[in-house]
Amino acid sequence: MDLLEHVLVLLHLLGMAAVVGSAVLVARGVATPALLWGARAQLVTGLLLVGLLEAGEGPVDHAKVGVKLVVALAVVACSEIAAASVRRGQGERPTLVTVAGWLAVLNAAVAVLWTTAS
Ligand code: HEM
Repeated sequence: MDLLEHVLVLLHLLGMAAVVGSAVLVARGVATPALLWGARAQLVTGLLLVGLLEAGEGPVDHAKVGVKLVVALAVVACSEIAAASVRRGQGERPTLVTVAGWLAVLNAAVAVLWTTAS
């Protein structure tokens, strides 16, 4: 693992901390900037990590990464809709925020517990 990959993993973990910390632990039900930017960061850093692994060390478990991608897109969608609702003055969407947070927890579980490589 080179330095760039280490840094990306660090950003990936900080993004997870932002989403889970905000939506599940601290600002429950509130669409904070931490939730929104954390969700976006997960998507970007995750895709960059896949690209880096494909180009270098590999192999990448495509089924696992595919599941994580779908779940992460759902996290982003929930966060974006909840934040847009607040921006437009239509109020908080606490259920969407909660779903985003717990889906991020699910993705962390997939990342750590899904161990078969292909
Ligand atoms: C809410 C979204 C996400 C969460 C909470 C999450 C969580 C995690 C965690 C906790 C790890 C560290 C696992 C370990 O090293 O044992 C990890 C690694 C990784 N994630 Fe994610 N992830 C998310 C989204 C994504 C997405 C969208 C992709 C790509 C499409 C992705 C690709 C990866 C890759 C390739 C690694 C392995 C890095 C390495 O070992 O070098 N992740 N993720």
